[in-house]
Amino acid sequence: MRYIDDFVTSYNKSAVRRFHMPGHKGRPVTGCEAFDITEISGADYLFEPQGIIKKSEEQMSQVYGSAATLYSTEGSSLCIKTMLGIIKMKKQSLRVLAGRNCHKAFIDGCALLDADVSWIYPEKASCSVCSSFITAEDIRRGLECGSFDCVYLTSPDYLGFMADIRACADVCREYGVPLLVDNAHGAYLRFTERDLHPLSLGASMCCDSAHKTLPCLTGTAMLHIAAGHEELGYDAKRIMSMFGSTSPSYLLLRSLDIVSDMLACGGLTDRIKDAERAVKKTRDRIGALGFETVGSEPLKITIRPSCCGLSGKELAQELRCRGIECEYSDREYLVLMPSAMTEQDEFEQLVSALDGIPKKAAAEPGPMPVLSPCERAVSIREAAFSPCEDVSPDEALGRICARSISGCQPAVPVAVCGEIINKDCVSVLKAYAIDRISVMKNNRPKGEQI
Ligand SMILES: Cc1ncc(COP(=O)(O)O)c(C=O)c1O
Repeated sequence: MRYIDDFVTSYNKSAVRRFHMPGHKGRPVTGCEAFDITEISGADYLFEPQGIIKKSEEQMSQVYGSAATLYSTEGSSLCIKTMLGIIKMKKQSLRVLAGRNCHKAFIDGCALLDADVSWIYPEKASCSVCSSFITAEDIRRGLECGSFDCVYLTSPDYLGFMADIRACADVCREYGVPLLVDNAHGAYLRFTERDLHPLSLGASMCCDSAHKTLPCLTGTAMLHIAAGHEELGYDAKRIMSMFGSTSPSYLLLRSLDIVSDMLACGGLTDRIKDAERAVKKTRDRIGALGFETVGSEPLKITIRPSCCGLSGKELAQELRCRGIECEYSDREYLVLMPSAMTEQDEFEQLVSALDGIPKKAAAEPGPMPVLSPCERAVSIREAAFSPCEDVSPDEALGRICARSISGCQPAVPVAVCGEIINKDCVSVLKAYAIDRISVMKNNRPKGEQI
């Protein structure tokens, strides 16, 4: 069923004069204005839904098998802060054991809510700042060392690597700690051949960016509360409203509503399975051309092109010249994100473009420097709200980071506020060509005058 779409469409067709916001009055400026309404009578309220939004969210909740699903028109970034807020309200404290490959929104949420974070650095060396292979054993080791209100993981990561959420959830359950998953890249994982959605694998809460992998408009996301964890949902809307705008976009709500109908009817879920098969085939064909592919996320194609003598950035430029734009590239990797909406001929075009790229002698790009734990000097919150100054990576050595630095596109912080920037961190900053870092103003290495 389409609840929000039906309302907006019939309002649009009616002769009602719009003496309400927005100022465009439904008249075309960019072209989408007719559907862009506000919380008028009958349109429901996002943070206190009783009507069409409630019904649409309930439909989405049924699709995902959740206890509750909340729409966000401000991305997973809003859902991440909400998940942390829910834990803080329930436990009256926020001690988080978190995988280090988190998105910047997590750090922002921690700063706002004054979280105390212990990082999980994986036993096995990470392949990139964007990616870390966190295992159930890494979590167990972390939980053995302290007392925590929740565990927070990011999976899938930007490169398409996935944690074993079932095993991680089992460990969390053993220790009686809720597992929160940033599943921003995996909204579609419920509908793949094997259901790989974090909620189905035992997570207590997760966020999905609908816009990243489903045919939804940018900014749409969902916060899911797992069945069996209903108590986490009671104040979820109230908490979300503390971080969210009081003007949710109905363009985005309508987009979520239409996609919830498409998922409920099954047409889109079939297309996701078709896309999964097409991606698998394409990955095999890319491998046969001599390119190495990595990662296990069903709808991502991550190429490590060093075996063909190319960096990720060079490969991105070669593809760009052939009419293909990728999601992300760096020195080592190139990430392509097809979806259920990618047509078969586009996969063909990708393979033939890769086939036409001249290969050079294999050259290892040289290992990317890996982050090592930095010592914490002050809380994330104290550093985030402190006066700061911008310095070069070399000047930042030994200083306290004041703003999460995520110069590299996936917004995974290389340095986290409140931590003393160490040598490895400086090497990673340089490797990502980040040349300015915010450090706390009133903190200088020992011996230096203030
Ligand atoms: C892993 C991860 N988490 C969270 C986010 C934030 O999602 P959104 O852009 O929907 O707010 C992103 C965005 O790129 C992301 O890559």
